[in-house]
Amino acid sequence: MSGVRVGIAGATGYGGQELLRLLARHPHADVTVAMASSTSDRVRSLPALTGVWSGTITPFAIDELTAAADLVFLALPESASAALVPNLVERGPRVLDLSGAFRLRDAAARARWYPQTPELALPVAYGLTERRRDALREARVVACPGCYPTSALLPLEPLAAAGLLEGDIVIDAKSGISGAGKTPSERTHFSERHGSVAAYGVFGHRHTAEIEQELGRPVTFVPHLVPLDRGILTTIYARVRAGTTAAAVAELFEQAYGGAPFVRLREGALPEIKHVAHTNFCDIGWKLDTDSGRLVLVSCLDNLVKGAAGQAVQNFNIACGFDERAGLV
Ligand SMILES: NC(=O)c1ccc[n+]([C@@H]2O[C@H](COP(=O)([O-])OP(=O)(O)OC[C@H]3O[C@@H](n4cnc5c(N)ncnc54)[C@H](OP(=O)(O)O)[C@@H]3O)[C@@H](O)[C@H]2O)c1
Repeated sequence: MSGVRVGIAGATGYGGQELLRLLARHPHADVTVAMASSTSDRVRSLPALTGVWSGTITPFAIDELTAAADLVFLALPESASAALVPNLVERGPRVLDLSGAFRLRDAAARARWYPQTPELALPVAYGLTERRRDALREARVVACPGCYPTSALLPLEPLAAAGLLEGDIVIDAKSGISGAGKTPSERTHFSERHGSVAAYGVFGHRHTAEIEQELGRPVTFVPHLVPLDRGILTTIYARVRAGTTAAAVAELFEQAYGGAPFVRLREGALPEIKHVAHTNFCDIGWKLDTDSGRLVLVSCLDNLVKGAAGQAVQNFNIACGFDERAGLV
């Protein structure tokens, strides 16, 4: 063993299995422990990872997790992360949390959307990799962004930072069903979703708070469930300052992401889910109507990779000083 000793909690979930798949082949990581919940002590196997990872899934136990790992990935329900992270912080391993529990900085917003989350003694880095590299280098706790916020913030942040956005921003996002995790509910059951598309969470989705926190302005965010297993396509309707040219928008994106290995700028060749599925890419396309200043942005990513495990591994790479692409290409 020569890499960083990493542990995965929640390794039997959708995000956790992606983490295992990526980290098992990572050149600088040794997966020393991978845990499910503690509800069952039977041996768990992951058929999709046969031939990729040969370890054993064990029931959750914090002592074993912290003894075996110097850095832990948490792919848990947010209530479990909320309870666990303070304990992990005390024990020492670095933490990359895929849940929303520690993403919101404002105490009132946290109390509203993540009431089980306690105050942490340490600062938490928000892990939108391409936009927060400096904060990630020294971070001991990283809150990896939600899948929808990643798809909305990557296209919007450069425009907001340049002061180009004006007026209302509407974020209309469509997600595959794996975004809801592996346990089916009445809403996510195959027979409910097959052959249907539905909006949900209008003015009541906690990712709105996360997007607004990072963007620093209000948005209308409407998520939809579409009958796909994975992938998010986000269409954003915005307005830019009068006189903004198509060349200026293109140059802004080029400056923001020209050197970013996992953001592909598609401009008028609008992206689609098939092109990013099972990859760590976020593809961004756009069309500007220069007469009216109306800008339509389209971004696509795989919710389980760039929207979850892949971005977490990208953050791991930066936090540990490795090549950002390690284990991801
Ligand atoms: N799915 C996505 O697209 C996505 C994207 C971004 C972020 N996220 C976030 O990532 C986290 C994981 O999501 P997911 O979709 O992978 O969830 P999931 O498929 O439901 O998996 C949850 C995992 O956590 C384990 N677990 C449940 N309760 C636990 C507890 N109290 N203690 C220890 N382990 C426990 C489960 O083990 P068992 O197998 O034993 O039940 C399973 O391994 C969530 O917070 C989610 O919001 C998900």
